[in-house]
Amino acid sequence: MSTLTISPAGGDGPAQSWTDRAAIVDRLQAIGVEFEHWQAGRDLADDADQDTVLEAYRDAIDALNARYGFRSIDVVNLTPDHPDAAALRSRFLAEHTHADFEVRFFVDGSGLFYLHVGDRIYMVLCERGDLISVPANTTHWFDMGTRPFFKCIRFFTAPDGWVGEFTGSDIAARFPDFDSYVAQLA
Ligand SMILES: [Fe+2]
Repeated sequence: MSTLTISPAGGDGPAQSWTDRAAIVDRLQAIGVEFEHWQAGRDLADDADQDTVLEAYRDAIDALNARYGFRSIDVVNLTPDHPDAAALRSRFLAEHTHADFEVRFFVDGSGLFYLHVGDRIYMVLCERGDLISVPANTTHWFDMGTRPFFKCIRFFTAPDGWVGEFTGSDIAARFPDFDSYVAQLA
């Protein structure tokens, strides 16, 4: 279930969690993050290629393009046995920003966003059907866990796609990773 947890950025002190969608949307809206639920009813094979995923979600993509005017779109499709799973995981796991805003539509599986805003960390567990839009220059990181499983359509207004500026901070190591976060909810 999509879940939001807000923790002090220092890693000490009480964290608070919400699973109620309206509560999550409100709290994220307060930091400029859009969180929406879209239809993600198409069943795709685990090894579906990028064109198959994009074709299946053509209507949603067209609607988002009309709203935001994206210049590039791609698909990240990860399964636990993906040969680059560990390398891809570590790339997104370090705190970074982008000059572009970050829009992700999870059409399958799940992933955990960590947004570092002011003195708080917002952990957003995104599930199938979740669409999240993180404003440009928001400090964040992302974890998919040791056994990643998700298909995510990524939208960029920058023609070059994903360009991250790493902060060099080790803050990500002080928060539960995807595996422990999900275990804790179970
Ligand atoms: Fe990012």
